[in-house]
Parts: sequence; C-alpha cells; structure tokens
Amino acid sequence: MQPFRPAGIRVSATDWVEDGWDIEQTLAFAAALKVRGCDFLDVSTGGLSPQQKISLSPGYQVPFAERLKRDVGMPTIAVGLITEARHAESIVASGQADMVALARGILYDPRWPWHAAAELGAQVDAPPQYWRCQPRELKALFRDARIS
Ligand SMILES: Cc1cc2nc3c(=O)[nH]c(=O)nc-3n(C[C@H](O)[C@H](O)[C@H](O)COP(=O)(O)O)c2cc1C
Repeated sequence: MQPFRPAGIRVSATDWVEDGWDIEQTLAFAAALKVRGCDFLDVSTGGLSPQQKISLSPGYQVPFAERLKRDVGMPTIAVGLITEARHAESIVASGQADMVALARGILYDPRWPWHAAAELGAQVDAPPQYWRCQPRELKALFRDARIS
C-alpha cells in the first residue's frame, strides 16, 4: 500500500481589490480542489496591489480560513500576524482552523515553538545536546530529557 502523503495548496483568499479575486471565487476554487483530492488549504491573502486596503490586525486572515473550513469542509491552515502562543492556541481550539503557521514571527524568534510550548504548559522534543539548557522553572519542557 502506498504511504499517505497529504497534499495541500496555498490560496490567496482575496486580493483585497475591488473587482479582483475574492472569497467567493476562492470558495468555488476550493470546492473544485476538494473534488480532485486536495487534502488541505493554507489560507493567506494577496499582498500585491497598491490599490488594496487591508485593515491589519492579529489574525486578520483567520476569518478566510474559518469560512473555507466551514463552507467547503476542508482542513485549513491559518496564517497572518499570528504571533502570540495563546492566540495561536485559541484559533485551533475554537475550530477556526486546524493548524496555524507563522512566517515573520518565526524569523524574529526561531525558538517560537519552544517558547509557545513553555507558555502553554506543553512539551517539545529537543535533541540531547540541548537538554542542559532547559530552564530551571520549566523542568518538564523537553520531553524525555535526562540529565545525569
Ligand atoms: C508584504 C507581504 C505580501 C504578501 N503577499 C502574499 C500573497 O500575495 N499571497 C499569499 O498567499 N500570501 C502573501 N503573503 C503572506 C505570506 O506568504 C505568509 O503567509 C505570511 O507572511 C504569514 O504570516 P506572518 O508572516 O504574519 O506569520 C504576504 C505577506 C507579506 C508580509
């Protein structure tokens, strides 16, 4: 049996331009992708036109992921100004998206997943050579860490 390899696609849900590409067209596009076996959508928006008016705020693209998930019934990844661990967690926990992805936040802080895990009381897998850097107050952060 062939191993299952999920294949998804990044969509720009709107280009924020009047008479441009919009969410209704993305919904139709996503439905056509679903019929063809697409497994998930990574939902962003276009940032290409000087005409666009975007009101930027944390998670400003999440409603597009939420709408596509609800109306098309496909798993979605939400992106866009998601920088805080609790915000990321709430997007997934509330069912607005199935996953979140970060770009600029990770460029700024490459250890973002560790810091998010620490804030949320979760655990991460760290290579043995990092185990000694686990902060004193976070004794359970690194899963299965053993220091002799
Ligand atoms: C200036 C700029 C332009 C972007 N243009 C597009 C675009 O045209 N289409 C698209 O799908 N995503 C676009 N993105 C989104 C990025 O591809 C990426 O998903 C996003 O930066 C992730 O969000 P974050 O960096 O806020 O974590 C753009 C992002 C920025 C900062």
